[in-house]
Amino acid sequence: MPKVIVCGRGGSGKSTLVSLLAGELADRGAVLVVDADESNLGLNAMLGLEAPRCSIMDHLGGKPAVGSKLMARLRGEGDEDLSLFDGGLAFADLPQECSSGNGNVSMVRIGKIEHSMEGCACPMGAVARSFLKQLSVDKDQWVLVDTEAGIEHFGRGVLEGAEFILAMVEPSQEAVVLAEKACGLAKEAGKACGTVLTKVDGDTKPLLEEKLSRIGIPPIGSIPYSATLARENLEGEPLADASLREELRSILTSVISGMESYNMPRH
Ligand SMILES: Nc1ncnc2c1ncn2[C@@H]1O[C@H](COP(=O)(O)OP(=O)(O)OP(=O)(O)O)[C@@H](O)[C@H]1O
Ligand SMILES: [Mg+2]
Repeated sequence: MPKVIVCGRGGSGKSTLVSLLAGELADRGAVLVVDADESNLGLNAMLGLEAPRCSIMDHLGGKPAVGSKLMARLRGEGDEDLSLFDGGLAFADLPQECSSGNGNVSMVRIGKIEHSMEGCACPMGAVARSFLKQLSVDKDQWVLVDTEAGIEHFGRGVLEGAEFILAMVEPSQEAVVLAEKACGLAKEAGKACGTVLTKVDGDTKPLLEEKLSRIGIPPIGSIPYSATLARENLEGEPLADASLREELRSILTSVISGMESYNMPRH
């Protein structure tokens, strides 16, 4: 199954959607959630999981070690993927100390900003890119990637290892413009992309549908504003809202069919 990147503007509901989709997919097979947001710390709580004891970055020797491989690449030494995961990776090979899980859902963290003045987050992007590119997925396994706000991860090539990009659109013009940009960048990289409305109500949903259709990126699904989700988030509880199951299933169906049509030869 595809590796799916969820992107969008700050606070649009990326981590919420990743957590809800993981819960829905757990009934179908193994799900790995990749926390590729170098700042926020709450995804494990939204998933109802312990935070992993160490990040993938820690496992690779920390930011300085990865940073020096990046510098070597800039000098024209070393390979494009930084040889971070020699021989590729499967779900079963994930270093135990770097993952936490419950039942079919597990998670890893790429790396977090830990210290003031520690420098830019480029090594996080390089690890995320390399990790996703080298991670192999069976047909009953899904990978959901939660990203930081904005589109910097596109610039860092994180989407190279993914097959589908979900761009979240909450009710704001800024979100519409950013989704258009994200879908354009995904297309340029040869990746399938779909927009998902979030936090919508009876007034904002048709308005956004119309706006997105006009610019050629009609939504493949929508998550309404949910007081249940807002309360669970505030209480630090795992996210679940049984009333959203149909919407979640429909988004997954659209991802699968979007992948199939994207993979069909074009004339
Ligand atoms: N469908 C929804 N209904 C109600 N509240 C929501 C919904 N989706 C997200 N929220 C709320 O919006 C806030 C931001 O959600 P979330 O953390 O998922 O966004 P994000 O895009 O991951 O943010 P960031 O850019 O900081 O990573 C949270 O308080 C969350 O509870
Ligand atoms: Mg988030």
